[in-house]
Amino acid sequence: MRRNVLLGEWVLTEIVTVPTAPFDGQAPGTSGLRKKVRVFQQANYAENFIQSVFDVVKPQPGAALVIGGDGRFHNRTVIQQAIRMAAANGYARVLVGQGGILSTPAASHVIRKYGASGGLILSASHNPGGPDEDFGIKYNIANGGPAPESVTGEILARTREIAFWLTIEAEDIDLDRLGEVTVGDMTVEVLDPVADYADLMEQLFDFDAIRKAVSSGFTMRFDAMSAVTGPYAMEILENRLGFAPGTVVNGTPLEDFGGHHPDPNLIHAKELYDLMMGPDAPDIGAASDGDGDRNLIIGRGRFITPSDSLAMLAANIEIAPAYRGRLSGIARSMPTSAAADRVAEALGIPCFETPTGWKFFGNLLDAGKVTICGEESAGTGSDHVREKDGLWAVLLWLNILAVRDISVDQLARTHWARFGRNYYARHDYEAVDSAAAATLMDELKARLPTLAGEMFGSLTVSRADSFSYTDPVDHSVSENQGVRVLFEDGSRVVFRLSGTGTQGATLRVYLERYEPATGAIDAETGVMLEPQIAAAHEIAGIAHHTGRSAPDVVT
Ligand code: G6P
Ligand code: ZN
Repeated sequence: MRRNVLLGEWVLTEIVTVPTAPFDGQAPGTSGLRKKVRVFQQANYAENFIQSVFDVVKPQPGAALVIGGDGRFHNRTVIQQAIRMAAANGYARVLVGQGGILSTPAASHVIRKYGASGGLILSASHNPGGPDEDFGIKYNIANGGPAPESVTGEILARTREIAFWLTIEAEDIDLDRLGEVTVGDMTVEVLDPVADYADLMEQLFDFDAIRKAVSSGFTMRFDAMSAVTGPYAMEILENRLGFAPGTVVNGTPLEDFGGHHPDPNLIHAKELYDLMMGPDAPDIGAASDGDGDRNLIIGRGRFITPSDSLAMLAANIEIAPAYRGRLSGIARSMPTSAAADRVAEALGIPCFETPTGWKFFGNLLDAGKVTICGEESAGTGSDHVREKDGLWAVLLWLNILAVRDISVDQLARTHWARFGRNYYARHDYEAVDSAAAATLMDELKARLPTLAGEMFGSLTVSRADSFSYTDPVDHSVSENQGVRVLFEDGSRVVFRLSGTGTQGATLRVYLERYEPATGAIDAETGVMLEPQIAAAHEIAGIAHHTGRSAPDVVT
């Protein structure tokens, strides 16, 4: 119990101590704690995790906490509880998005802009939503980025010993009304989730150039997938940039994303893909995911892989006003193709290879070592926030196309004609039995020492290892971040188990092959990668371990 002074009077805000016991399996994965809604609905489940976060980060006097989510089912319930718990744990202020909404990049921006000590982002990203689907909680630190492993490790340790959580007796607040309210001794500000973010985008990019292109007939479709980016895209694309009404489709965030997977890939954004490959395609098609940090870019008749998008954006980023003359370096996750490395090499700047997960970019961005980062998992972003940012990537594409006055397809061809092309695909085997997937990876790792020199079809292994990363800034080491098999011709396959799934295991197989500018730069990806696909099957015994001869999803 604690006493506080409010408005000159002694007011007793009674802290309620609720006894609890640890739950197994509250380890934050690649991107926070992610489980089925039903799991989160158990008494004490979300509370245990949130209290563990607060116990580890220990809010200092005056500390502010940002809370926002992607609007999925269970969002409001957890937000109301988190507000009461924040009040009991000594936060002075909570900033929460109206309706409980904040896209992940917008939350990152709000944390930075208002000097908050951190934020709780409630999302399961691109996973489906609804009572039988997924929910998640992630803690971001004061730089606006996901908590590093040192912090998530402490949080996990805390969840294993937690005995009580703290709250206060208080009514739910009206999340839909902008303005300030008091909860216990804490101020809660409900803010417009879009305005700050839209203003930031306007500072970064040449909106005049884009507006000019739009008025000269440049067209687009943006599929918000009934997820969080709808209101952001409406404001930025239609209201501020002047794209025609109807440019943004599925623009209203729904608690179950309309029953779809809000994952902007060729499977779940098939309608957009079909449109872009057909006769009525606009100049560019784009989409974002559940919480707004991923992006999909498709030109008329031309899909751009996320790995290529990173390389193409990096090569052109200095066209955008906020990036002129200040591209210091590029970072990509290990399974992302090396297309960006070629750009870095040509520009004479460093390219960093990190483990999967945006959190690994945080130190590099904070230290000014890199300006742009990207991942094969449809994430691209820069030092403007500390999360990947779907709409940011779309706007950078628009800025570049508007200024260079070329199509997406022309830009891609020009890029490959200069740098060569990294043919790339990811094959996912979903909902594999967890034990079988673990055995596959174990056997693969056991073979690593003897793989070099072995032949698989026409490919000879030059090197094979389990990827380990030493952070160049804080020197922390992250081991076991995926198995790489490199072949003598420069192609490679990478094996990794997903860290974001909620059912069984997902095996990801990443395939890559480089073709120089003088080679076949406009061939079919599937055909170009046939030798690598066959080798991957043989090396890992995929069919033997998973019982599957083909992937569930190819992206
Ligand atoms: C989240 C993270 C990304 C990461 C991705 C990997 O989206 O924010 O940074 O690349 O997960 O997911 P996976 O399922 O492959 O672990
Ligand atoms: Zn996401």
